Amino acid sequence: MNVSDLSTASFPSSTPRHIAVIMDGNGRWAKRQGMPRIAGHRKGVETVRKILPLCGKRGIPYLTLFAFSSENWARPSSEVRLLMDLLTSTLENEILGLHENGVRLRVIGDLTRFSGRLRNAIGEAEALTRNNRALNLTLAINYGGRWDLLQACRSIAELVEQGSISAAALTPAVLESRLSTHELPEPDLFIRTGGEKRISNFLLWQLAYTELYFSDTYWPDFNESCFDAVLEEFARRQRRFGKTSAQLKSIA
Ligand code: IPE
Ligand code: IPE
Ligand code: MG
Repeated sequence: MNVSDLSTASFPSSTPRHIAVIMDGNGRWAKRQGMPRIAGHRKGVETVRKILPLCGKRGIPYLTLFAFSSENWARPSSEVRLLMDLLTSTLENEILGLHENGVRLRVIGDLTRFSGRLRNAIGEAEALTRNNRALNLTLAINYGGRWDLLQACRSIAELVEQGSISAAALTPAVLESRLSTHELPEPDLFIRTGGEKRISNFLLWQLAYTELYFSDTYWPDFNESCFDAVLEEFARRQRRFGKTSAQLKSIA
């Protein structure tokens, strides 16, 4: 995967370079307060605002947030509509501030189902921030891991049909180059808030060797001390990638 702007060699392994988050629990948070679900989603946006600067302070250059899954269309249409409005207004209102703070925004997912206004906001935000380097923020909207793998397979099948590549030449690197995350390093750390212990069709290929962390805290309540607790736990883990502990010690 392309990590041209940050060298792997100089990156301390005790700090995750890329964190991927399933921001779950907004609805239950709202219910607990006796409020409508959308109040939880709005509060969830505030959590994002608080977590972004922490990435800079803790030296984390890539953050990927799951904001709307390909399965979330199945929710009541009123919630879907309010979520779309929230996504659009948040993007429109926050982009200048993000740009001033050196954030590069990318959006991954199948955008074809979105309104022209949302697609425009996404296009403008990505273009405006494309040269920023402080934080690579990726929003996954109408994203599904299966969709990502399928669209990658389809684009490779087209290359094979055109005769640009042979089936025998297909490698993991070729597949990765066709995934929507091709500009991002693999996630080192996955966080899911809200208590559920599942992947829910998030980054399926990309999470192969990611450290998984599940928090019972609802996303609207997730704060700096929760974030630091996850980072501390990550620093204590030993990533073996199939090797033995002894092998890793002999390298260190
Ligand atoms: C996550 O919170 C946000 C989205 C899926 C858009 P939920 O809305 O899933 O909250 P819970 O899981 O119902 O509490
Ligand atoms: C996953 O949460 C998607 C997002 C946070 C955007 P869900 O709440 O949709 O996941 P399930 O349905 O509980 O698996
Ligand atoms: Mg949920």
